[in-house]
Amino acid sequence: MSDARRTDQLTLVAFMQASNVSVYSGSWRYPSNTSDYLDLRYYQRIARVLEEGRFDLMFFDDRLAMPAIYGDSADEAVRYGARPIKLDLTAILGAAAAATEHLGLGATYSTTYYEPFHVARTFATLDHLSGGRAAWNVVTSVNDAEARNFGVDQHTEHDRRYDRAEEFIEVVEHLWDSWEDDAIVADRESGVFAEPDKVHELNHRGEFFSVRGPLTVPRTPQGRPVIIQAGQSGRGRDFAGKWADLIFTGDPSQAVAAEHYAQQKEIIRAAGRDGDQVKILPMVYVIVGETEAIAREKESVFLNELVHPNASLALLSEVTNHDFSGYTLDDVVTDELVDSISGIRGLVQGVKRHIGDQPLTLRVLANHRATLLQGPRFVGTGRQIADQMDDWFQSRSCDGFVVAATHFPGAFEDFTRLVVPELQSRGLMRTEYTGATLRENLGLARPANVFAERGEVVGV
Ligand SMILES: Cc1cc2nc3c(=O)[nH]c(=O)nc-3n(C[C@H](O)[C@H](O)[C@H](O)COP(=O)(O)O)c2cc1C
Repeated sequence: MSDARRTDQLTLVAFMQASNVSVYSGSWRYPSNTSDYLDLRYYQRIARVLEEGRFDLMFFDDRLAMPAIYGDSADEAVRYGARPIKLDLTAILGAAAAATEHLGLGATYSTTYYEPFHVARTFATLDHLSGGRAAWNVVTSVNDAEARNFGVDQHTEHDRRYDRAEEFIEVVEHLWDSWEDDAIVADRESGVFAEPDKVHELNHRGEFFSVRGPLTVPRTPQGRPVIIQAGQSGRGRDFAGKWADLIFTGDPSQAVAAEHYAQQKEIIRAAGRDGDQVKILPMVYVIVGETEAIAREKESVFLNELVHPNASLALLSEVTNHDFSGYTLDDVVTDELVDSISGIRGLVQGVKRHIGDQPLTLRVLANHRATLLQGPRFVGTGRQIADQMDDWFQSRSCDGFVVAATHFPGAFEDFTRLVVPELQSRGLMRTEYTGATLRENLGLARPANVFAERGEVVGV
């Protein structure tokens, strides 16, 4: 590795939840956490804070069921507030778009339970209304509780979900291209609104979908909304390498992140794409204080005081799609058990690597899931956090971060007030937005239109 500092800047994404809790499931109990998550102004206020902090993107995760795998019931999730609430994201992003001018707006939509036409239309509309700031996080969903809300008993098997996702995203991208950029002429005199030759049917007939098209929304400011993906399995990494503009990762340490970064960039290049046009962004928790002691005190509260063990188990069962209600917290998680997990397998492997040779008990794993604080966690003053971020960035362990909040809106207010100026003074972050769209702010090229490039009407 050369000693020269990187000349590009960090990409910063704020990890948001439209829920009673942040991704940290005890957040609702933290004294300064606000509880107006059912009010539109809550999301607008956080969006303004993020724009003031010059974040690239406000991104919302999603899940299509309560955590209801543990004991085959949502009781513990409901009782302890372990994310029983999850709002639909479309209205929220519209509200955030109205409150801001530059901030990117990202949402998670499932390829397993939605339809390509619906998703293409939702994000194309948002891209227009926000002036080119939309991003879609492509997920295949994780568990049987979600399946049961959509008329199926069991969640589709892992690789099969990715088969469907491949076809899904191809159809979505073609729908986004179904109008060429210059299709609308709106000539009042001749009465011609748009050129039919430049508005294309897909006539797609595949294994999973039949979609005629065209989309009912013209091509958008970004050409195509930004694609986010967070696949961690082998199949997931290949999928991300082929399709994603931003790849979210969940690596437990810098060493693991650096290895993952190099491997994922290789996968991107092997897919025939430019490695610099895809950003790899690990999720980190940031706990910042005016002094290190203040930050450490907060950390101790978050780690030790706010999450009930049953909430942890409910959340662990949810992501592993495995019912842990028959186990005790001291049970060791065996390799056979890990192999039988059909949800996010990478999670368990990541925790195992993080704790080294210690036996992996259910207590450790559940704690990791509920607090996610066992993973990368930057704690300290603004300067100390900036040092860590700089270190990860310069050592090519990442191209930026997905910053997770311990609580709302305080964690992002603190970050904007204490960390952002430090990053800006080192040239690691912008002081003003320079691009007109999210893609431009991220330094990503606007995708060419496949139909215009082919110059003909072709099915996909
Ligand atoms: C930062 C981050 C955010 C994620 N957000 C979601 C989400 O909102 N909904 C979801 O179902 N999965 C989410 N995931 C999980 C991934 O989509 C993916 O399922 C997981 O990383 C496992 O990868 P695999 O399916 O390739 O095994 C997220 C992962 C990360 C690292």
